[in-house]
Amino acid sequence: MSPTIDFTVIGHRGARGHAPENTLLGIDTGIRLGAHMIEIDVQLHSGMLLVIHDLRVDRTTNGKGRVDALTIDALRSLDAGRGQRIPTLDEVIDLVDGRVPLNIELKTGLGTAAAVAGALGRRLPALPAEQFLVSSFHLPELYEFRQLLPQIPVGALLCGVPLDWAACAAELSADSLNLSDEFVDERLVADAKAQGRKVYVYTVNEPDDMLRLRAMGIDGIFTDYPDRALALPPR
Ligand code: G3P
Ligand code: MG
Repeated sequence: MSPTIDFTVIGHRGARGHAPENTLLGIDTGIRLGAHMIEIDVQLHSGMLLVIHDLRVDRTTNGKGRVDALTIDALRSLDAGRGQRIPTLDEVIDLVDGRVPLNIELKTGLGTAAAVAGALGRRLPALPAEQFLVSSFHLPELYEFRQLLPQIPVGALLCGVPLDWAACAAELSADSLNLSDEFVDERLVADAKAQGRKVYVYTVNEPDDMLRLRAMGIDGIFTDYPDRALALPPR
């Protein structure tokens, strides 16, 4: 990412406000809109890394049922919107092709860290480590990823305010703390910034909220509408 970017616009699940989430079309749309980074959600299923947010397919596809109860063939035959398929992590990395950094959020535990470390390890050094940011709410899984592939930046996801503020980010040597917009406490932000971590906030879609958060000194936002964030007046 260019060092001149002082407020990072991260396309949430691609560009969810404009195209089906977590699909190749959505991801390409986010990049074309100018997002500085793209976020996707990844689940491990039968040894394969699939890009899908929910544990069920009902909301985002024309299918029904739990992801882990369907075969890979059945999952891959579903329509994820506008004729898109549920992509694999490798397909997404090929599509992005180093145009922007890719934030891979680990949605499942139990082996996801190892599988993603394997997949990303195979991409290095053809793609620089800085082209990735691996994040998770599952901090033990993220810690394991950190041990397996320490050169890849990681982001600790929080949906709350811990008693020990940003201590988890320090324990993980995380590059960023990725916070829910419901829990942006100035003391938590200050603690992360004092440790030298970046702070990104999800999911921010309204320009007035973008401006308010940017004025607090955070480093960027996840948004379904990268175009709105890119149209803000300069800081
Ligand atoms: O990574 C930021 C954000 O995507 C986390 O929440 O539920 O949208 O994956 P969720
Ligand atoms: Mg996510």
